[in-house]
Amino acid sequence: MRVYLDNAASTPLSPDVLAAMMPYLAEQYGNPSSIHYHGRRLRTAIEDARKTIAQVLDCAPAEVVFTSGGTEADNTILQGAVRCGAVTRIVTSAVEHHAVLHTVEALQNLYPDLRLSLVELDDHGRAQPDHLADILADGVPTLVSLIHGNNETGALNNLEALGAICRQHGALFHSDTVQTIGLLPFRLCQQPVDYVVASAHKFYGPRGVGFYYRNPSAPCPPLLMGGGQERNQRAGTEDVAAIVGCAVALKLAAEHRDAHRKHLQTLKQAMMDGLRERIPGVGFNAGSDSPESLPTVLSVHFPLQDEESLLLYNLDIEQISASGGSACASGSLHPSHVLQALGYDRCHAANSVRFSFGSQNTLEEVHHVVAKLADIVVPQMAM
Ligand SMILES: Cc1ncc(COP(=O)(O)O)c(C=O)c1O
Repeated sequence: MRVYLDNAASTPLSPDVLAAMMPYLAEQYGNPSSIHYHGRRLRTAIEDARKTIAQVLDCAPAEVVFTSGGTEADNTILQGAVRCGAVTRIVTSAVEHHAVLHTVEALQNLYPDLRLSLVELDDHGRAQPDHLADILADGVPTLVSLIHGNNETGALNNLEALGAICRQHGALFHSDTVQTIGLLPFRLCQQPVDYVVASAHKFYGPRGVGFYYRNPSAPCPPLLMGGGQERNQRAGTEDVAAIVGCAVALKLAAEHRDAHRKHLQTLKQAMMDGLRERIPGVGFNAGSDSPESLPTVLSVHFPLQDEESLLLYNLDIEQISASGGSACASGSLHPSHVLQALGYDRCHAANSVRFSFGSQNTLEEVHHVVAKLADIVVPQMAM
């Protein structure tokens, strides 16, 4: 049995989404910027997709801008706010995705006067609202960038509380919502956020497409220069099939949201129960076992002392796909920067594995993985 428990890295494409994309891959050619018939019908498909997304997230269609995914969306917002001079400081945290952390590092190199502050985290890896308020109290023009659902631990930040503090202090608020759009409900017209981002391959859509939402009062100059696509906000001929797929995937995710979350919670609970029963000393990192964390992600620590763990390779040999950290670090032996930022040492991080669940997974698969893990780990514990 081959089992895929790496859905936080990427989910499988839904057959319904593929069916919706097919006409735009196989039949409907042309350039959506052309004014003739072939162009116009593609333009209509893009604008319909934008409306669908806006409806699901409760915002205006003009506030949605399509990108090549979460990384580009994060880059557009962070780089844009600094480049246009709207902010002279970024406040973020040490457990962000590299799409944010590496962008902030690059900006610091380009703009030596740019200030940077990191928000303190609680034991579950959640940003502490009181500390954010302390940082913002000096009134420096700031962009706050805090992840919503952590892709490695499943920790969930409180967008409302953090956003309210940003509003109170006049700071711009960006949240990397790549792991939560499609999973949790959003009402963007009422939420205190200026920017959120999404990536379709995290909610059963195609890879290489996503979008950002921008509150119209928040600045966001384009990252890419070129044509006037996306109302001058993102140059480049649109991938119409991918955009259509992104919108259909999000609509389906919203329609099945409650059943999907229940299914994920059942799988995650079964995995936790099974591991506790079969592997003495197993642990869950940073509150990953708490009901407040994402139902998709379970970060597990195995009681082994290996500095260079072979766990992921052993799992792969057993036909089980899981991850040691963020997707870009999958399969590498570098322990997760998130776990290390949370105070776990290299050895602890090296012996941790992230399992992440999807709609296609079954209880049978979870039981199978637990049994294989016990076979791999328990004999090593005796050594
Ligand atoms: C939290 C988070 N942000 C950003 C990204 C990057 O998204 P994309 O793969 O669409 O570039 C990911 C993907 O792993 C993610 O989990």
